[in-house]
Amino acid sequence: MVSYKDLGLVNTREMFAKAIKGGYAIPAFNFNNMEQMQAIISACVETSSPVILQVSSGARKYANQTLLRYMAQGAVEYAKELGKNIPIVLHLDHGNSFELCKSCIDMGFSSVMIDGSSLPYDENVALTKKVVDYAHQYDVTVEGELGVLAGVEDEVASEHSHYTDPADVEDFVKKTGVDSLAISIGTSHGANKFKPEQCTRNAEGILLPPPLRFDILKEIEKRIPGFPIVLHGSSSVPQEYVKIINTHGGALKDAVGIPEEQLREAAKSAVCKINIDSDGRLAMTAAVRKIFVENPAEFDPRKYLGPAREELKKLYMHKCINVLGSAGKAE
Ligand code: G3H
Ligand code: 13P
Ligand code: ZN
Repeated sequence: MVSYKDLGLVNTREMFAKAIKGGYAIPAFNFNNMEQMQAIISACVETSSPVILQVSSGARKYANQTLLRYMAQGAVEYAKELGKNIPIVLHLDHGNSFELCKSCIDMGFSSVMIDGSSLPYDENVALTKKVVDYAHQYDVTVEGELGVLAGVEDEVASEHSHYTDPADVEDFVKKTGVDSLAISIGTSHGANKFKPEQCTRNAEGILLPPPLRFDILKEIEKRIPGFPIVLHGSSSVPQEYVKIINTHGGALKDAVGIPEEQLREAAKSAVCKINIDSDGRLAMTAAVRKIFVENPAEFDPRKYLGPAREELKKLYMHKCINVLGSAGKAE
């Protein structure tokens, strides 16, 4: 049993309390390799932002859970070396079983998500409560989910989304004891969040997605005032990256995300954690594709992963400063 406290990590409790009071959101960036981790930490140190390092079960399989844990431990030391002891959470993204959550808690994660959103309500309550009861013994915080996002949630695949029903949230929070709640108000995972027929087009032919359901968010906030809310599927799918990818051999069709102004608006509310993975994938892919096309003789991975890491860092800094408002909040 390893305690996250011995690794220099923190749980989400104080972070979220401050974020709600301050009207900003904490970035939750997914990582599964060294360059992503370096980019996240250097961007958050430079902007002085608290951060949640997020590991999906797919990432765990890809990178090995022990290595990822040591990387998060290394991230704490790396941040100090860069000059700032920012608060860092190590969080399991979309845990789909009690056993997976327990294993992460036992090996040093400071926060876990149990995603029972695809289960019948009572089963979601029972599973989430079981994880909370275990996690709280070790002061690990737990995120639950109500409502279903369209797209693929790790092992939890869902063809159809349904919005969170505000009538359920108070009962769910009370019965489970969760520390935060992920909700469904129109975001979705991946780089193709909406079908073209769900969107309108502006004069330049750019797809404009349907707006997030702020009315549902408001209703939820009314039922559980001051309770930390989480938004998944919050990549904006920057069109400049899509364009670089597609003009350098890629084939991304109808890629569209959540407009940044809407995320900024959400961050001012009780939404205090915003999950971003796909934008990082796009930034890295755009940078690597460009180098491969422009310099086909290059075969040193540092020569393409290095610039990709720089692009990622730029993206993360932009999110902290201009979208989530978390810059300066690690002071
Ligand atoms: O919510 C999904 C995250 O973007 C993680 O995706 O399962 O491909 O690692 P992944
Ligand atoms: P995106 O695919 O929009 O980046 O969402 C990531 C996410 O919600 C991770 O849990
Ligand atoms: Zn998610």
